[in-house]
Amino acid sequence: DWTMAAYRETKKAEIRAQVGDGKVICGLSGGVDSSVAAILIHEALKDSGTDQLTCVFVDHGLLRLNEREQVETLFRDHYNIPLVVVDAEERFMSGLAGVTDPEKKRKFIGAEFINVFEEEAKKIGGADFLAQGTLYPDVIESVSFTGGPSVTIKSHHNVGGLPERMNMKLVEPLRELFKDEVRELGRELGLNDQFVGRHPFPGPGLAIRIPGEVTKERCDILRKADAIYLDEIRKAGLYDAIWQAFAVLLPVKTVGVMGDYRTYDSVCALRAVTSTDGMTADVYPFDAAFLTQCATRIVNEVQGVNRVVYDYTSKPPGTIEWE
Ligand code: XMP
Repeated sequence: DWTMAAYRETKKAEIRAQVGDGKVICGLSGGVDSSVAAILIHEALKDSGTDQLTCVFVDHGLLRLNEREQVETLFRDHYNIPLVVVDAEERFMSGLAGVTDPEKKRKFIGAEFINVFEEEAKKIGGADFLAQGTLYPDVIESVSFTGGPSVTIKSHHNVGGLPERMNMKLVEPLRELFKDEVRELGRELGLNDQFVGRHPFPGPGLAIRIPGEVTKERCDILRKADAIYLDEIRKAGLYDAIWQAFAVLLPVKTVGVMGDYRTYDSVCALRAVTSTDGMTADVYPFDAAFLTQCATRIVNEVQGVNRVVYDYTSKPPGTIEWE
């Protein structure tokens, strides 16, 4: 009968049959899907004697605290997978200067991501295949359905367009799987529970959690607040009960008081939702003491924030991200 262990072997054989002795390039996002796809492909090809797979991780400066280091440790040190890390923070920050419209942010980040990825692919001599962690719901969602909204609410960026531009074929070993199955496959491949249980993180990263202009300074402030919030959530044992939890840095300053001083700093909003697929979502009902603890720590520990609010909006009518 069907087991994930058997599925893993079947998929590895399929990957070998598809790829032959071709070269594969895989863009890592730090998320579960692209990681599981990369590790599976690595396992399938690693005995060929040559490194057929190269992973590329673009650090656009819009990542969470320590995210890049975690990816480096996991792929290079633990799995011994050839990994190129591109430090593209300055490029992305200068391109985002003055951009406040959410869709313009997404479009720029998506396009620039492809530019960076393409440059790196050329540097390693190109590849025959592009590996992606496409899941079954992504396959269905890209097909338009009747009754759904006829307008684009948010244009999600992916590496669409790249395979044609670079003349690469796609390797998508997770196309038949749902998220929970990908997590199980990840565990089967040796990823720990903490990694496979990570909350989804959008491609445009922190840029869509900083309404208004995105700067390195504001990213740094948000990274700190977000890390404190997630630390409290993990300590309270609530991480796995939540679909996504994150902080948002608002372009609004308010007056506060710290000791004998007046402060005039930014507002930070906290968001946490439960969901099964991200299409609809309910607000996570933290108790007041928990939120008070988060607010106190963030205001005390993060310079630049002097007020914290909690977002009580479900989806619909709100969306999960603020932009
Ligand atoms: P919304 O905000 O539309 O989000 O309720 C639904 C899910 O999609 C994620 N999201 C994105 N993911 N690129 C992505 O890769 C994007 O531009 C993007 N916008 C939203 C969001 O984090 C949530 O999981």
